[in-house]
Amino acid sequence: MLEVTSKSYDDLNPEERHRLIALADDEFGGFDIVRNTEWASPNWVFLCSYENELAGCYNLVLRKAEFDGKPVMLAGLNNMITLPAFRGRRVASHLLENTQKLWFNQFKAEYGLLLCADQLVEFYAQFGWRLTSAEIRYKQPGGIRVWSANCMLLTNEGSWFEPELIDLCGLPW
Ligand SMILES: CC(C)(COP(=O)(O)OP(=O)(O)OC[C@H]1O[C@@H](n2cnc3c(N)ncnc32)[C@H](O)[C@@H]1OP(=O)(O)O)[C@@H](O)C(=O)NCCC(=O)NCCS
Repeated sequence: MLEVTSKSYDDLNPEERHRLIALADDEFGGFDIVRNTEWASPNWVFLCSYENELAGCYNLVLRKAEFDGKPVMLAGLNNMITLPAFRGRRVASHLLENTQKLWFNQFKAEYGLLLCADQLVEFYAQFGWRLTSAEIRYKQPGGIRVWSANCMLLTNEGSWFEPELIDLCGLPW
């Protein structure tokens, strides 16, 4: 049976942290945009295990950002990974289906936000995410940048507000 747990990122022990960083590095470290961007540190990690073995995980960044200049609390999803041996067995589905509500209820997020590659848009759409055409601004050490690939949003109640400008007010995730 798949079991879902969550942990504050600060409470991970060095071994757990190292393992999650290594998993992300294996999956995403080859992409220029990933290597050349400074990323936000996550606040939470959600883990899915099968018989005490890690099967999948993702990170969550909680951020007070801005939609068209108005403050908005975002739950930022990143580094969603199903370990290769478990792919195609609904691990990622199970994780998202059992945790997305928490972002709104427990963390009081108003929207979920993720930055993703073209080939994953359909995957996330299954769980209620929608593409936004808003301009996405984020900080880097050299100044403000604009995200040029996909950004998807998730709402709680199904109500949909499409801002023209989303300012992440910090590093991206
Ligand atoms: C994307 C990923 C997390 C999916 O995990 P998974 O546990 O294998 O996914 P699931 O088994 O829950 O798949 C759910 C559905 O999405 C579909 N799906 C899975 N991976 C997909 C992909 N890359 N693109 C489109 N659809 C996909 C499945 O076919 C399945 O559909 P079905 O229910 O009709 O059969 C996994 O392939 C992975 O870790 N990829 C590498 C890292 C990555 O790219 N992460 C995303 C970062 S934004």
